[in-house]
Amino acid sequence: MAFTVRKARISDVQSIYDLLKHMAAKGLLLPRSLSNLYEMVQTFWVGEDESGRVVGTVALQVAWETLGEVRSLAVSEDCGGQGLGQALTRAIEAEALTLGVERMFVLTYVPGFFEKMGYAETPLASLPQKIWAVCFQCVHYPDCKETALVKDLPR
Ligand SMILES: CC(C)(COP(=O)(O)OP(=O)(O)OC[C@H]1O[C@@H](n2cnc3c(N)ncnc32)[C@H](O)[C@@H]1OP(=O)(O)O)[C@@H](O)C(=O)NCCC(=O)NCCS
Repeated sequence: MAFTVRKARISDVQSIYDLLKHMAAKGLLLPRSLSNLYEMVQTFWVGEDESGRVVGTVALQVAWETLGEVRSLAVSEDCGGQGLGQALTRAIEAEALTLGVERMFVLTYVPGFFEKMGYAETPLASLPQKIWAVCFQCVHYPDCKETALVKDLPR
């Protein structure tokens, strides 16, 4: 199937919410509120199928100086394994470059996917304090099984 990857619009927010809620219920992602998604909609990209259904999403969040974060990456199970996760990740990496981001990081339960995208595992403590300080506030701390990975973007 062919997918279109594009910046999110306000009209996509409910679909993004439903997709993230579905993945969060499976323990694969942290959920995000509708309110937060409306506030952060400019950070989101979506993948839509040929019928215009939103079947994937990802967000680029600037964390600090030249550091960007891959957030809320999700692809519907019925569209998995067809390259959409990779295409969404590449889209935010390209956007990150135009913003002046030099290094991307991700906190994830699927390190294997990101290793295929050129990311390498790093100790959480190697990231700026602002990032791991948030972890201490999280309901999943200290039992979180997320792995931190980083990738230097080509200039
Ligand atoms: C992880 C996820 C986004 C991958 O999306 P996808 O569209 O199926 O991925 P792609 O088809 O682009 O896969 C790209 C490559 O990564 C590999 N890959 C996909 N999921 C993987 C995983 N969980 N572990 C290791 N490798 C994985 C694929 O095999 C493929 O490799 P190949 O090119 O050698 O065939 C999707 O499975 C998903 O939404 N998972 C649940 C939510 C989640 O865990 N999100 C990440 C939060 S940071």
